[in-house]
Amino acid sequence: MLCIVGIGHMGKAVLAGLARNGSQELTAVVRDESRHAQLAAEFRTVRFVTSPVPCDGAVIAVRPKDVEVAVRQAVDAGAHRILSLATGKTLSGLREIAGVPVARAMPNLGANLGMSATSVCAQDSSTLDWAAEVMSSVGTVVRIDESQIHAATGLAGSGPAYVLLFAASMIEAGVAQGLSIDVARELTIATVQGAGALLAQGDPEETVNAIAVPGGTTQEGVRVLKERDLPDVVSETVAAAARRSKEIMQEMNS
Ligand SMILES: NC(=O)c1ccc[n+]([C@@H]2O[C@H](COP(=O)([O-])OP(=O)(O)OC[C@H]3O[C@@H](n4cnc5c(N)ncnc54)[C@H](OP(=O)(O)O)[C@@H]3O)[C@@H](O)[C@H]2O)c1
Repeated sequence: MLCIVGIGHMGKAVLAGLARNGSQELTAVVRDESRHAQLAAEFRTVRFVTSPVPCDGAVIAVRPKDVEVAVRQAVDAGAHRILSLATGKTLSGLREIAGVPVARAMPNLGANLGMSATSVCAQDSSTLDWAAEVMSSVGTVVRIDESQIHAATGLAGSGPAYVLLFAASMIEAGVAQGLSIDVARELTIATVQGAGALLAQGDPEETVNAIAVPGGTTQEGVRVLKERDLPDVVSETVAAAARRSKEIMQEMNS
């Protein structure tokens, strides 16, 4: 049985994926009992409790500042292993608190739809296998060394926000060019979905070069993005988020 501790934005997204997957018994720890009835109606197969219960493993989906207490509570209740989704708390820090095998995962909000890009790391291979299996029910999983977690956080943990912001700008730009908001939104959704599928098929720059024929409209649009140095902006964006991940780690472990 798997215990999910903390049903906020990320805990709920992961719970949704795990519940849809349906491969294991799930208990979710929500301290505020007044939320239970609504959550139970949403997740009919999940048991909701106010504090951890004995379980094979606990997924800790609380804010970094709350990790220590949540891990202690889960282990005291009998969790055999811990998978932390929190930014910052290191494997060695988690192990010191937990005293049982620990793993970390960095998912993103795509987990809600079973489409997370999740990085996982652990101190031993069987815990890594377990963490990868748990997180595979909410999307794509890559196994990384813990030293890469800031890069993975900057790229994918925070990544949906970058793409959504780009899409929001496309919608606004469509409206500025005279489309209704509904039409601009529908066109943008389909465009982003199509671009995601194209990305999975091959090298993105090659695809852009194939579409952006000389004298055409795409080439003219791409010219502006390149002149404004989109790669540089994206690079700075990912670097800033990765740097913040490192800072949170330093704050958490100092
Ligand atoms: N959001 C993202 O896109 C994202 C992406 C990757 C990783 N993460 C990581 O996921 C973690 C959770 O983020 P979030 O955005 O989901 O935060 P959030 O929305 O604030 O949710 C955290 C939840 O944890 C609960 N909680 C705190 N201590 C608890 C305890 N001891 N037992 C049970 N529940 C407890 C809180 O409940 P109360 O209301 O009772 O305080 C709250 O519902 C963070 O560490 C973050 O670094 C988030």
